Amino acid sequence: MAFASQLVALALLFAVGNAGAATAPAPAAGPANLTDILSKGGQYNTLLRLLSSTQVGEQIQSQLNDSFNGLTLFAPTDNAFNNLKAGTLNGLSAQEQVNLVLYHVLPRYYSLTTFETASNPVATQASGPSGSYSVNVSSTTNQVNVSTGMVETQVNNALYSDFPLAVYSVDKVLLPPQLFEAKPPVAAPAETPTKSPATVKPGKGDHSSAAAIEAPAEATSKPSAAVGLVAGWGIVVVVVGLMGVGNHL
Ligand SMILES: *[C@@H]1O[C@H](CO)[C@@H](O)[C@H](O)[C@H]1NC(C)=O
Ligand SMILES: *[C@@H]1O[C@H](CO)[C@@H](O)[C@H](O)[C@H]1NC(C)=O
Ligand SMILES: *[C@@H]1O[C@H](CO)[C@@H](O)[C@H](O)[C@H]1NC(C)=O
Ligand SMILES: *[C@@H]1O[C@H](CO)[C@@H](O)[C@H](O)[C@H]1NC(C)=O
Repeated sequence: MAFASQLVALALLFAVGNAGAATAPAPAAGPANLTDILSKGGQYNTLLRLLSSTQVGEQIQSQLNDSFNGLTLFAPTDNAFNNLKAGTLNGLSAQEQVNLVLYHVLPRYYSLTTFETASNPVATQASGPSGSYSVNVSSTTNQVNVSTGMVETQVNNALYSDFPLAVYSVDKVLLPPQLFEAKPPVAAPAETPTKSPATVKPGKGDHSSAAAIEAPAEATSKPSAAVGLVAGWGIVVVVVGLMGVGNHL
C-alpha cells in the first residue's frame, strides 16, 4: 500500500513537473512579431518594405526583447505613402530613410490613454542627444494627435497594443522638418552657384571663354536630368517590387 501511494505521488510529481515544463516556454516565446502585425493589417506594404530595407524592423524586434519601457510605432498606411509628393522617398539617402522610419518609433509603450502622460516634445528613436526629431502629442480622453511641426495626424486605430509594443495606424507619413523643411527643392542643386566664383565672368566680346563656361553649365544640367530619370526608374522598380511582394503574399 505504502509503495503504491509512493508511486502515485511520483506520478503526480512527474505530471506537475511536465506541466511546468510545458507552460514555461510559452512566455519565453517572446514579444509580438511586428512583421506579422503589419502584414495582417493588409495596407502597410510600403512601411514593411522600408522596415526591411533600412533594417529598422529587425532593430525594433530585438529591442522589444530587452526593452524596459517598450516601444510605440506609428504605422503610415500605403495610402499615406502614396499621398507623398512623387520622389519623396527616393530623394532620401539610405541614412535619411533610416531616420524617417526611426522617427515613427517612440522609445516607450503608450496605450491610447497613457498618451496623456506624454510630455512634449516627445523624443523618437531618431532623436539625438540634442532632442531633434521629436514630435508633439496632444490628447483628450478619446482622441490623440501627433504632430511633427510639418504634419499633424490623428492616432486612432490600434493595430496592436500589448506591452511592450503598441502599433497605431496613421493616415499620414510623419515628415520630420529636419529632413524636409531645410532642404532646398530637388531642382535647386543644379542651379547652386558654387562654381561661379571660380569661373570669372567673360568679357562681352570673348566668345571662346563664354563657350567654355556654357559647356560646363550644360554638363551640370545633364546629371540633374539623369537624376530625374533614375528617380523615375526607382519608382517603377518600387512598384514592380511591391507587386512582387503582393504576389508572394
Ligand atoms: C516574424 O514572422 C515572420 C513570418 O511571419 C518570420 O519570417 C520572422 O522570422 C518572424 N520574426 C521574428 C522576430 O520572430
Ligand atoms: C529574444 O530573447 C530570446 C532569449 O532571451 C532569444 O532566444 C531570442 O532569439 C531573442 N529574439 C530576438 C528577436 O532578439
Ligand atoms: C486633432 O486634430 C484635429 C484636426 O485634424 C482637431 O480637430 C482636433 O481638435 C485635434 N485633437 C487634439 C486632441 O489635438
Ligand atoms: C511642439 O510644441 C512646441 C510648443 O507649442 C513648439 O515650440 C514646437 O515647435 C512643437 N514641436 C513640434 C515637433 O511640433
